Amino acid sequence: MRQKGSCVVVVGCQWGDEGKGKVVDVLAEDADIVARYQGGANAGHTVHVGDDPFILHQIPSGILHDGKRCLLGNGVVLDIQQFFEEYDALAARGVALEGRIGVSRRAQLLLPYHKLLDQAVECAAVEKIGTTGRGIGPAYEDKAGRRGVRVIDLNDAERLHTRVAAAKERVCRRLDELGAGATRTLDEAMDQALGLGTRLLALATDTGPEISAALAAGSRVLLEGAQGTALDLDHGTYPFVTSSNTTAAAAATGTGIGPTAIDEVVGVVKAYTTRVGEGPLPTAFEEGMDQRVRELGSEFGATTGRPRRCGWFDSVLTRFAAQVNGLTGLAVTKLDVLDTLDEVRIATAYRMPDGTVTERFPADTLSLGRVEPVYETLPGWGTPTSQVRRLEDLPRNARVYLHRIEELSGAPVQWVSVGTRRSQIILVG
Ligand code: IMP
Repeated sequence: MRQKGSCVVVVGCQWGDEGKGKVVDVLAEDADIVARYQGGANAGHTVHVGDDPFILHQIPSGILHDGKRCLLGNGVVLDIQQFFEEYDALAARGVALEGRIGVSRRAQLLLPYHKLLDQAVECAAVEKIGTTGRGIGPAYEDKAGRRGVRVIDLNDAERLHTRVAAAKERVCRRLDELGAGATRTLDEAMDQALGLGTRLLALATDTGPEISAALAAGSRVLLEGAQGTALDLDHGTYPFVTSSNTTAAAAATGTGIGPTAIDEVVGVVKAYTTRVGEGPLPTAFEEGMDQRVRELGSEFGATTGRPRRCGWFDSVLTRFAAQVNGLTGLAVTKLDVLDTLDEVRIATAYRMPDGTVTERFPADTLSLGRVEPVYETLPGWGTPTSQVRRLEDLPRNARVYLHRIEELSGAPVQWVSVGTRRSQIILVG
């Protein structure tokens, strides 16, 4: 099918929480369709419309722009109760939703037993991952194990019953082994979730054909990733990762379009680095600085409220992200958080435990936990940037910092965000 429209992927390039929600919200202004391609309610996108914060877990942030169609692709694990809670909360705040949300018939359902299992496994684990407890791992395990329940299965009561009963039995056995035991509320939660089946089916679509037809007709499509490159199941800091492919190539498999339909890939990076959950963070700040930046940047998880660990910008990781995602551009967020720092650092390489220096992001997560970053130190800018709207109006040292990020990462900076509001963004060039 010839493509007249355009297709842009927005992908996180660190450990999630890069500010993708804000970037998608801004780019959605010029889009007709916004689609999520992986993950589930583990994501938490905070978007500000005026002074109003909206936290979206599953519905793409494009929903806050009138008239845009928002899709959840087949790569998503859909928590049906959480989805309708979010849906109803948006409706209650006056967002018009009629005909605007579509859910892939092929998407997997994340059911209450997945959450119980996630929490019980994490609780019993010797090596904890620090999951969000939203059932993500168990839901993707069921998908890969070919025993999951998909949106389309809601159409067939008998088939649904058979699959759910088998899954419940298996999960309850596993919970017993873990010493957790199924809670008495599981049956109730299952009834509630499946009771929403008819409502969900009314939103069902085939995202691949829908997006492809829209592209052929000239529509502009945004494909929105959740989490970030370093949390990708294949390319991230395994096993401290999420259970889906977060990287740009998954935008094709996770929505059902061909990879050649993608025109651009925008990588979102925070002007520093954060991580929530277990696993190494090579450029982590020392304690005082960690606390200072956490407060300056309000670095607390949007889904779990957990404090995020903070650190310097890591160009070893963002260079890797540029390669693995095929980035065509960068959006740098939260530059304003660094306004009061005397100096800023960028990690350009890692000194490995054996003394060698590498500019490549290592596959060995254990070693990653023991590397010593090689830093380049730049002067701070000591001037507020949150009112700036043009690149040339940024303090010189801030521009130098952005330029080094671009050079070291290997992708051009296209947007710079300097605050939470929609208007606080600089379009570069
Ligand atoms: P899960 O996705 O809940 O299984 O969690 C696996 C890892 O990914 C944990 O370290 C989580 O903290 C992290 N994680 C999952 N979703 C997000 C997110 O949206 N932002 C940041 N970290 C996340």
